[in-house]
Amino acid sequence: MFSEAHALPRLPFLLLALWAAAPVSAQSVEHGHALYTAHCTACHSVGYNLTGPMHLGVVGRKAGSVPGFDYSPALRHSKLVWTRANLLAWLQDPEALIPGQGMDFSLESARDREDVVAYLATLTPASK
Ligand code: HEC
Repeated sequence: MFSEAHALPRLPFLLLALWAAAPVSAQSVEHGHALYTAHCTACHSVGYNLTGPMHLGVVGRKAGSVPGFDYSPALRHSKLVWTRANLLAWLQDPEALIPGQGMDFSLESARDREDVVAYLATLTPASK
């Protein structure tokens, strides 16, 4: 009883802290999600491997490291980490970032790339 009464007033501060920490708008994430559904799910899923590796936890992950996915040697040995900057470069031109890779897809619009990466950043294990 007492602990609940203590915990409640903290919630607005927690939400405010989360909001302030978020580098992108909810609108961007929403648009990114729509683009993901329209383009990426032909080959990818969040939670399991298809033609492409699963995307859960991809931001901050070592490139080519999903267990059980048969990566190209180029991607597997790239030693890249999927930072936002690397993801933006990848979605613009995968072959320029990692020559010899196996993803035959890119996004032309810079805005689209940013929104998709904003969406990818929400795919943390806790959000699944
Ligand atoms: C035509 C199929 C196809 C489409 C469409 C596609 N991908 Fe891929 N993607 C792949 C394949 C295949 C790989 C693995 C490439 C390799 O092994 O070199 C890959 C790899 C990746 C990786 C590297 C993941 C890792 O674990 O290292 C990311 C990130 C990625 N794709 C993001 C996307 C996003 C975001 C979209 C939509 C904007 C997208 N892909 C659309 C086929 C696709």
